[in-house]
Amino acid sequence: MKLLRNSFIVCLLAAFLPMVAQNVEISTPGMSLLLKANVGENLKFVYFGERLSDADAASLREVEPARYDAYPAYGLNCPAEAAIAVRHADGNMTLDLKVSAVETDAQSDFTTTRIALRDREYPFAVTVCYKAYKTVDIIETWTEIVNSEKRPVLLNRFASAYLPIRRGEVWLSSLYGQWANEGRLCEEPLNPGMKVIKNKDGVRNSHTAHAEVMFSLDGKARENSGRVIGAALCYSGNYRLAIDTDESDWHHFFAGINEDNSTYNLQSGETFVTPPLAITYSNEGASGASRNFHKWARNYRLANGNRLRKILLNSWEGVYLDIKEPEMHQMMDDIASMGGELFVMDDGWFGDKYPRIKDNSSLGDWVVDRNKLPNGIDGLVAKAKSIGIDFGIWYEPEMSNTVSELYEKHPDWVIKAPKRDLQLGRGGTQVVLDLANPKVQDFIVGLFDELMTKHPGIDYVKWDANMDIRNHGSNYLTADSQSHLYIEYHRGFEAVCKRIRAKYPSLTIQACASGGGRANYGVLPYFDEFWVSDNTDALQRVYMQWGTSYFFPAIAMASHISATPNHTTFRSVPLKYRIDVAMSGRLGMEIQPKNMTDDEKALCRSAIAEYKQIRPIVQLGNIYRLVSPYDNKGLASLMYVDDAKQKSVFFWWKTEHFYNQHFPRATMAGLDPAKLYRVHELNRIDNEPLPFEGKTFSGEYLMNIGLEIPYNHNLDWHKRTDLSSRVLYLEAQ
Ligand code: DGJ
Repeated sequence: MKLLRNSFIVCLLAAFLPMVAQNVEISTPGMSLLLKANVGENLKFVYFGERLSDADAASLREVEPARYDAYPAYGLNCPAEAAIAVRHADGNMTLDLKVSAVETDAQSDFTTTRIALRDREYPFAVTVCYKAYKTVDIIETWTEIVNSEKRPVLLNRFASAYLPIRRGEVWLSSLYGQWANEGRLCEEPLNPGMKVIKNKDGVRNSHTAHAEVMFSLDGKARENSGRVIGAALCYSGNYRLAIDTDESDWHHFFAGINEDNSTYNLQSGETFVTPPLAITYSNEGASGASRNFHKWARNYRLANGNRLRKILLNSWEGVYLDIKEPEMHQMMDDIASMGGELFVMDDGWFGDKYPRIKDNSSLGDWVVDRNKLPNGIDGLVAKAKSIGIDFGIWYEPEMSNTVSELYEKHPDWVIKAPKRDLQLGRGGTQVVLDLANPKVQDFIVGLFDELMTKHPGIDYVKWDANMDIRNHGSNYLTADSQSHLYIEYHRGFEAVCKRIRAKYPSLTIQACASGGGRANYGVLPYFDEFWVSDNTDALQRVYMQWGTSYFFPAIAMASHISATPNHTTFRSVPLKYRIDVAMSGRLGMEIQPKNMTDDEKALCRSAIAEYKQIRPIVQLGNIYRLVSPYDNKGLASLMYVDDAKQKSVFFWWKTEHFYNQHFPRATMAGLDPAKLYRVHELNRIDNEPLPFEGKTFSGEYLMNIGLEIPYNHNLDWHKRTDLSSRVLYLEAQ
């Protein structure tokens, strides 16, 4: 049977070609997904992984029995896990989905394949969609579920996708954590039973587990070799990823919206579109899969993904809620004098009747507190412009406090179960606005628009969200659609984001949610970056940023130099180390500079200047993780290499400090073996240059043998520190 190639459009209608066999191949430069889509039969999964030659694909099709449905439905194979399960209005709990049409549409950057499935008896259809990119190894897959029955159909299960993965020695890499400890890497073998990774926060979905995973097919994942499948659910709300390792030879991976307390009444004529699952494959280990995600993110999924980010100072850890005009001016002067490009005023600037003095009031009352800022936002913007930097502002538009003018005016706009007391969050008064309600959506869009129209000089917005949905109830949704609350909240949130982005496409917007609660590919089309964590302790950040880098590029990971002892962990970390960790992401500062010494400011000034040189390599380059902090070797190391393999930045951080300790030598990766690279240390604090300063080495040498990095800094006795770190810039000659 001839393979269906992506370069032309085919549409087969069951009515005209009742039993046409159809082999579907969905491919990217390095991956193939093979399906069997015989019209009138179930859609079958055949293969996913390394790109196959035509000959191998044809042979594989002959020998592979195509055991599993590509989107298994509940009811006619009850013991198996299903991607979709429904109850028709007549009580029938089954679906019998058969292929009715296959359609491909080739665009310049990607090809979309849509495979329509229809129930044999009920006018109920599911279209399984695949968007395969032409220059990056990512396929996005999702479904469109259409109810053409006369009455509503209840959706009990509605995964975005299902993927069978052959058993062998498959290990799972996933992220877990909690507030101030986000993005921790967990690596485990997949054993018999059900492994579920889920979120039920309602608003923020990446503090604890993440909606992205990797499967290493060859045992515990290695960074730069081995076969790895990656998957990222592009959704901002509650999710559920489940891997069923049953009695068969296969692991069964399902990913989608978390259906718990979210059954969906699909009305007659309504279409339910599931969020995309982005899947990738690499034979270059976990770092290879990360590079695929990062490239796709920068080119297709992240707002302004290829625009270099500005170096900023954020006011939060410097002054917290104690915003005052003179301090704002002083902080702007300080960051400008250190070479920074942007100042962001965080929480605490607003509230008229109820000024935001503590965190227990004022959210929703987005008017300037004139007692704190007599010259308002315009005064601050003017100050910033006068010293050549940009100005940004914090706000938290999805939230209110019961102590606010907004709540007094619209108590019905908050999420609350009828006949129950309000469940209150931060400060004992915080509540979540009901984004299912179009009036609330209009309010948020309106206030954003007003802020930007009144103050067009605002260059950056930090969009925060500091509460979960604790009490299930919407004043807007009808009684029989209360179970839609979580889904409608995120539909409302996305609708708001789309409207804002349509008008302000080039504004920089940070997704913050009590730290790293919104690191997900559901929000990133509308946000330029996210706040990795409220924990800015550089040592703990090595672990958190390492995990987060599995799926997200450095350009999106806000990483700030903060004070010591750290305000969360109370650990004292040398400034050089804090700088060297922050420079591996989107560099910023989160500190009161007036408490820094002149020497410290000078070190930051030179680091900012050096970061400007390497910014394109870090923010737009390719990551190669080298030594994992999770392997407990006492150090962590990674590097970024530009596309041309001409320039690279190598990071090396000690993660513990003992006298006479023995570290492995970190060998590099991703360089051109034949090129000669000159080595130059950045942020040098040592009295003497490193022995290899200014010397050239071949890429082959650096990757096979590596450089011997001294364990400690060579400093005058009274300046010595414990944790040491190095940043090396390599440039091909
Ligand atoms: C939580 C954020 O993560 C912090 O950075 C800060 O913006 C506070 N909210 C402000 O309330």
